[in-house]
Amino acid sequence: MARAAGPFAALFACLLAWGGPACRDAAPAAGAGDWPRHGQGAFEQRFSPLAQIDEHNAGRLGLAWTHDFGTRRGLEATPIVVDGVLYTTGTWSTVHAFDAASGAKLWQHDPQVPREIARILCCDVVNRGVAVDAGRVFVATLDGRLQALDAGTGALLWSAQTTPAEQPYTITGAPRVVSGRVVIGNSGADLGVRGYVSAYDAETGERLWRTYTVPGDPAKGHETPAIARAARTWHGRYWETGGGGTAWDAIAHDPELGLVYVGTGNGGPWSRVLRSEDRGDNLYLSSILALREDDGALVWYYQTTPGDAWDFTATQHLLLADLEIAGRSRAVLLQAPKNGFFYVLDRATGELLSAEPFAEVTWASHVDLATGRPVEAPGVRAADRPVLIKPGSAGAHNWHPMSFSPDTGLVYVPAQELPGLYTVDPDFAFVPRAHNTGLDMKMYRSLPPPGAAAAGTSGHLLAWDPVAGREVWRAPYAVAGNGGTLATAGNLVFQGTADGRFVAYRATDGEKRFEVTVPTGIVAAPISYRVGETQYVAVMAGWGGSFAVAAGDAAAAAGVRSAGHLLVFALDGDVSMPEAPPPRPGQRADVAIDASAEDVGRGSDRYHQWCAVCHGVGAVGGGVLPDLRFARAAVHAEFAEIVLEGRRAALGMPAFGDVLDADDVRRIQAYVLSRAPGGAGEKPDAASP
Ligand code: HEC
Repeated sequence: MARAAGPFAALFACLLAWGGPACRDAAPAAGAGDWPRHGQGAFEQRFSPLAQIDEHNAGRLGLAWTHDFGTRRGLEATPIVVDGVLYTTGTWSTVHAFDAASGAKLWQHDPQVPREIARILCCDVVNRGVAVDAGRVFVATLDGRLQALDAGTGALLWSAQTTPAEQPYTITGAPRVVSGRVVIGNSGADLGVRGYVSAYDAETGERLWRTYTVPGDPAKGHETPAIARAARTWHGRYWETGGGGTAWDAIAHDPELGLVYVGTGNGGPWSRVLRSEDRGDNLYLSSILALREDDGALVWYYQTTPGDAWDFTATQHLLLADLEIAGRSRAVLLQAPKNGFFYVLDRATGELLSAEPFAEVTWASHVDLATGRPVEAPGVRAADRPVLIKPGSAGAHNWHPMSFSPDTGLVYVPAQELPGLYTVDPDFAFVPRAHNTGLDMKMYRSLPPPGAAAAGTSGHLLAWDPVAGREVWRAPYAVAGNGGTLATAGNLVFQGTADGRFVAYRATDGEKRFEVTVPTGIVAAPISYRVGETQYVAVMAGWGGSFAVAAGDAAAAAGVRSAGHLLVFALDGDVSMPEAPPPRPGQRADVAIDASAEDVGRGSDRYHQWCAVCHGVGAVGGGVLPDLRFARAAVHAEFAEIVLEGRRAALGMPAFGDVLDADDVRRIQAYVLSRAPGGAGEKPDAASP
């Protein structure tokens, strides 16, 4: 089917498709073979109309070219291809341009992100990609700058600081260009910031609008009526902990409606008890917001998790489609957020059409379609005891993009099963620029048996029928945290896996048509493009991101190490696969630390407060950053200098001398050694303070 050129052509194309399940993304694309936008088109369907590679010949796929980024940290970017040039981002917000056919490097841009930013990162030094429009490449940097580069040379055209530098905001998301405006959100809800979305003039870098997602200090006045309304759903002195609601990933655009859609994140702190006197919906946390593209005004909202207490972000992929529902063609917005329900909304009005669980959900029995609200299970908000629910904070689906095939009518979701254990920290005190989740991290010591946080976790590629609200097929994986998906007109779905494979399935029924072992785990989503006569499928392969660095046993189960490569496949490609990095040493160093059981317990507390976000819960490394259980004797000898004085700060290992002292370091050393095989293990009872 030809791509539609304008609103009426789009409508016409939809009518022609009558009898088919759906209409294609009608947003204009640049060149027919390009991948011009983050989600292929403005509708973010991640569907490639190319069909040279199909269900019959996918077995002939091989590497056409590769690029080694020389990094051992996560790659999350979706590349963009325009006019034969592939643009992508690496670690530390670097931008790279390649000849999309030969792989020749054209240029590179390093925004020189100050490495101290690592201290306020939740989720690795990742970036999810650039936007390209009218000869300019846009990137948002970890330290909150939005930059425009010349697409031909990589020269910096303008740079705008989009976040207040003194507050713990960061950016990992990809900007989107919406009718000449560059739209970008930010991250930092866990640390204590107030979320917002901004739009900048693509040509000049001038800020055009900014829309906050949660209310600020009422004494300073509410910016808009929408924010004043939201403030009535918050209680206590919520603005002192920032509130959260950061829009750190999903953005979609409907040019005909003139609406830009963003998803908002969790509250800060996570627990509503600590945030809002355990009352109120706390608008607009965990919500889908429809904003007028001209001025950012809120047109409608839908809150997926009222009064969020579980880090149930609704920042996950927003995908627009036109579906035939109950005999009517509906313009819908689809989302499978962390909380485990698959939402179908009317994207003009925000009306909820359906919300079916797409994973095991125990925190709520169902979503009441009359009120649009989830019906919570009893006890899920308990603050006086640990609460174990599914999904957990990693979500039944996280940022890893899903895709939609208008041919099959199915959505392909990188889904996962992961429980979450929530214990409100009775001693919580807000610490500026710290991870203020308000969770009692000691829970990791009290979990029987050790490592139970990893138990019951798995992943799968889920083929979901959004009209019927049910699963059609799934491809199971032993581990969670698998990559985003790509659907193509060749009746294929591509996905990279956490355990280091790149796979193509038949889109209609999930039969595996191609599989290859790759050097590292994949979290990013593939794309497809054509140059000349050749169709390519490209994916950023680099194990990393929040799950890989923080999830401990659950991430280590992937059994991979990080290594950053761009892998580009074509039929009969004959370039050899890069080698996997050697396995990490798994030996506990012969080091004795003078520490009591109580010291080990306090070491665990400190470790989980300051280190687990990068080195993994339970001191189990997920294959990205050093696994401290196995640090060598030489590292133990300079542990204090590394941790307190920042001896490795230039490599992204922050200094903690302002919040920890030599005794803390000794206790942390004792704790990580106790966690190594052959170590003393933890003695939670003796360690309880
Ligand atoms: C923002 C992420 C981050 C946090 C938080 C973090 N680290 Fe690190 N750490 C790193 C990185 C990155 C490296 C690797 C540096 C390099 O390449 O040598 C590292 C390396 C180390 C090393 C050297 C290990 C080796 O085998 O070479 C030690 C020791 C260490 N960290 C201890 C800690 C402790 C203790 C804490 C908490 C107080 C902590 N780190 C918190 C990112 C982090």
